[in-house]
Amino acid sequence: MKTRQVRTALIGCGKVGRIHAGALATLNCSKLVAVCDGHHERAEGFAKEFGGDAFVDVAEMIETAEPEAVCICTPHPLHADPAVLALNAGVHVLVEKPLAATLADCDRMIAAAKASGATLSVVSQRRWFEPVARVKAAILAEKIGKPSLAVVGMFNWRDASYYESDPWRGRWATEGGGVLVNQAPHQLDLLHWFMGEIEEISGAWSNINHPTVEVEDTAVAIVRFKSGALGSIVASLGQKPGLFTHVHVHGSNGASVGVETDRGASFIAGVSSIAEPPLNDLWNVPGEEDRLSTFRDVDRNRFSRIDATSHYHVLQIEEFLHAIILRHAPAVSGEDGRTVVAMFTAIYRSQRDGMPVKFPVIA
Ligand SMILES: NC(=O)c1ccc[n+]([C@@H]2O[C@H](COP(=O)([O-])OP(=O)(O)OC[C@H]3O[C@@H](n4cnc5c(N)ncnc54)[C@H](O)[C@@H]3O)[C@@H](O)[C@H]2O)c1
Repeated sequence: MKTRQVRTALIGCGKVGRIHAGALATLNCSKLVAVCDGHHERAEGFAKEFGGDAFVDVAEMIETAEPEAVCICTPHPLHADPAVLALNAGVHVLVEKPLAATLADCDRMIAAAKASGATLSVVSQRRWFEPVARVKAAILAEKIGKPSLAVVGMFNWRDASYYESDPWRGRWATEGGGVLVNQAPHQLDLLHWFMGEIEEISGAWSNINHPTVEVEDTAVAIVRFKSGALGSIVASLGQKPGLFTHVHVHGSNGASVGVETDRGASFIAGVSSIAEPPLNDLWNVPGEEDRLSTFRDVDRNRFSRIDATSHYHVLQIEEFLHAIILRHAPAVSGEDGRTVVAMFTAIYRSQRDGMPVKFPVIA
């Protein structure tokens, strides 16, 4: 049976936009009809390379090209306006992470999706990493009892040339924040996905190693979950060279499972690739202690056969389009995206007010 093709478009023909355009141009379930960028030559270049018509204005693109779904790959404070425009027109939206830079923007986007019935989803492609899915499956199967303690550790690096590569990077007004807003949303999403609803967060942030930028390069936080579980977050861009990023979950039966989502510095779209495979780095499940080396062999072997930098984006974009075709909710919801924004907002507010921040966090 031939798959239905969703009429798709891309907003934001920049670095990660290239990965989205490649997916939208090649997936069986997508017909790329338009690409849009504030810079005309970027849109023209993408149209030539990937297909579709080029636009500089989102409203005009939606009216003329009539996409059913768009991927939004603009800088963080510029996610909400094109998303609301599209959702108001009944167009389904997949936004790059984080959903937005502020809770007020998240609420506008979620309200627009509710009002029109269109789907709102957010990229969190690390959920499709096999070792991440294995951790989630182990938790669901209660192999660690109840998840009772989680540890996120990100020891990453970005140098001055990264911040100089685009004028929006490194500033509160145009990036919305630092490591919490740009690099850590993936692991914040995994933490919430693994552990469940959050009760409160206390946190602190600093810029320890990047004197030329305004935003934080380091943050730490204590998370209390509604279940009574605890979590800790240390997210930093201050280790040169970048070391690793992991998410570990310890359970009520004493067992532990974990994943190293990134080795070294995490990849920079359009600049570097995922150089080493994501791997389980902890698997103390009773009766499964010998499985870690097999998991790692399987995952290393797969890594040598795929382009991991685009592969997991393609899987999530495909899942989003299938959800539209089959009229069910996508794996990652707009509310999931809002939770991540609430998590970093809570850390900023906790430092500002000198107290823990209760959930739900209001805009
Ligand atoms: N999921 C991931 O692994 C991943 C990786 C890299 C970037 N990202 C996210 O992708 C987004 C973009 O990052 P990037 O590195 O590609 O940035 P970029 O600066 O390379 O690209 C952004 C593009 O958006 C365009 N743009 C800005 N406002 C626009 C508007 N109103 N209409 C149309 N086009 C507009 C710019 O001209 C630019 O071409 C950010 O949210 C970032 O956090 C995600």
